[in-house]
Amino acid sequence: MNTLKNTAQSFFNHVEPAPPDAILGLNEAFKNDPNPEKINLTVGVYQDENGVTPVLDCIRAAEKRLIEQEKSKSYLGIQGSPEYASSVQNLIFGKEHPVVTQARAATVQTPGGTGGLRIAGDFIKRQFDQARVWMSSPTWANHPAIFAASGLVTKSYTYLDADKTGLDFAGMKESLSESRPGDVLLLHGCCHNPTGVDFSVDQWSELAEWVRSRELLPLVDCAYQGFHKGLKEDVAGVLALCDAGLEVMVCSSFSKNLGLYGERVGAMTVVAQDRSAADAILSHVKSCIRVNYSNPPRHGAALATIVLNDAEFSRRWQDELSAIRSRIKQVRSLLVSEMNSRTEVDFSFIERQNGMFSFSGLTPVQVDQLRNEYSIYIVGGGRINVAGINTRNIGRLCDSIAAVL
Ligand SMILES: Cc1ncc(COP(=O)(O)O)c(C=O)c1O
Repeated sequence: MNTLKNTAQSFFNHVEPAPPDAILGLNEAFKNDPNPEKINLTVGVYQDENGVTPVLDCIRAAEKRLIEQEKSKSYLGIQGSPEYASSVQNLIFGKEHPVVTQARAATVQTPGGTGGLRIAGDFIKRQFDQARVWMSSPTWANHPAIFAASGLVTKSYTYLDADKTGLDFAGMKESLSESRPGDVLLLHGCCHNPTGVDFSVDQWSELAEWVRSRELLPLVDCAYQGFHKGLKEDVAGVLALCDAGLEVMVCSSFSKNLGLYGERVGAMTVVAQDRSAADAILSHVKSCIRVNYSNPPRHGAALATIVLNDAEFSRRWQDELSAIRSRIKQVRSLLVSEMNSRTEVDFSFIERQNGMFSFSGLTPVQVDQLRNEYSIYIVGGGRINVAGINTRNIGRLCDSIAAVL
């Protein structure tokens, strides 16, 4: 147990530096690399063909409108903007869905998807002290730490098949046979980070029945809605769980799909069996928020609310999202064909994976070699951000990968 001590007239001189964040540390190394041809595939942000993470046109327009119309910068309520919460529900479930029409869901505005996950963790810990949170192996690097920070025990389930390019659904269920009723099952809504490997619609329906029989509480992390097939299609999994009559928790993020990364725009939704349960849940979630950040930031959520509720802005958004999806798909196809022309190794799985990330199948040794000898930065487990690839760097990237295979 560390105690606070005033050693040599300083409380802080003896504090050791914390280990660097695995992904952000690589980003630092990339910045310091003097090679003009360096390539960064580590970061978790979308980049266009010019390597830029753009402000979407619909957001620029919404920002203009907000500046003209905003009357106050005063605090929002603890749960955030009610208009925003209702827009989030409409986006996930659709306006006519019974979850919405029967007011069975409690939604709070959170600082990004991360804030939503942490509030979900705090709520779960307060209500269900013994629940353990099961997450895929691998999962987004921050998932285990967020739930552990809420004081919950985390466990992992099998996700990938032997060659680490596709789903091992049977293996997943097998490893979850150790779950206990009342445990939480964390699922990625679509565009699984870091693998790009998702469930099919049929598998979601099977999961719904299976989750019910094992009495698990599903928590779906929707950080990439609109990045795979479309805004509606990408929440098919959440809807399959809700339509099976299950209680579900959903964390949403507008970092990627509205490009609002630094504005911190997210939400946490709990789908209950009826309105009074949803109201009671909201009161507890609010008390988790109050002691955490008191109330969420207003600017980004106000922009999202404008885009989601204005038909013209929404149409623009859908067009921009569709262009993002097309670019990601094109890059995936190009990567496969470029690798096919250089090596016998089969890279076709890259086209079967969804969203910004892919597990490349590269080993840690090959990843190190790419960084040290070619200034190509890839996360240790072999995850690449496909959106970091463009027509200017793909030739050198594929030559280098072929050289280390
Ligand atoms: C799976 C997953 N969940 C949540 C988040 C958090 O998103 P935000 O930046 O909105 O906190 C990310 C971001 O990379 C993610 O990949």
